[in-house]
Amino acid sequence: MKGKFIVLEGIDGSGKTTQLKLLGDKLKDRGLPVLHTREPGGTRIGDKIREILLNPEYKELVPRAEAFLYAAARAQHVAQVILPALAKGTIVLCDRFLDSSLAYQGFGRGIEVSLLERINEPATDGLVPDLTIILDFCTEDGMDRINQSGRRIDRIEREAGAFHQRVRMGYLALAGRSPGRYRVINANRPVEQVHRDIMTAAEGVIDEIPEGDSRA
Ligand code: TYD
Repeated sequence: MKGKFIVLEGIDGSGKTTQLKLLGDKLKDRGLPVLHTREPGGTRIGDKIREILLNPEYKELVPRAEAFLYAAARAQHVAQVILPALAKGTIVLCDRFLDSSLAYQGFGRGIEVSLLERINEPATDGLVPDLTIILDFCTEDGMDRINQSGRRIDRIEREAGAFHQRVRMGYLALAGRSPGRYRVINANRPVEQVHRDIMTAAEGVIDEIPEGDSRA
């Protein structure tokens, strides 16, 4: 495998999407091959599953079914998009991955993390990100951002503040459990400062890319 797999994680409204775009643009400016993708989704099938997962009408969706749907979308995404891109030497920038399931379905919904790891094993096909960046952000500010965005609030975003607080603490617990796998970045700061820290973290793994690096 020649590419690099970089994942951005964080609570809803933490600024992941903005930061992932800034990171992608910077890497592309350097002539690096970049693929930008997201979960749940990133494929035709995954986008269908995403519609079910985020539709506020499906109030009856039980936590275990929710966990399997996220894992199903992930299985399709890994097989159809991520692994082929990595094989070609692409830097894959992904908005959420397995740790979203551990934080939201695990710490948020209360499903055992070990069970989630088991059901996600075939979904990820053993793929582990080269770098997982967690944007740590105040949950109240995250909810304010979403409420002010003017768009429809999805099924997960409608959860109570306590749920989002558990998710935030879940991310920090995961990072505490395996510090080598994560970079926790304080996202309650100006966009440029957060971006600089993300760049530094990304450069740490990208500099090791032996092929496809055509930086001037
Ligand atoms: P999305 O609109 O992509 O949220 P964001 O812009 O904040 O990334 O919606 C994804 C939602 O799904 C988000 O609330 C997090 C949740 N989610 C899980 O609960 N488990 C998962 O495994 C994944 C990938 C996402």
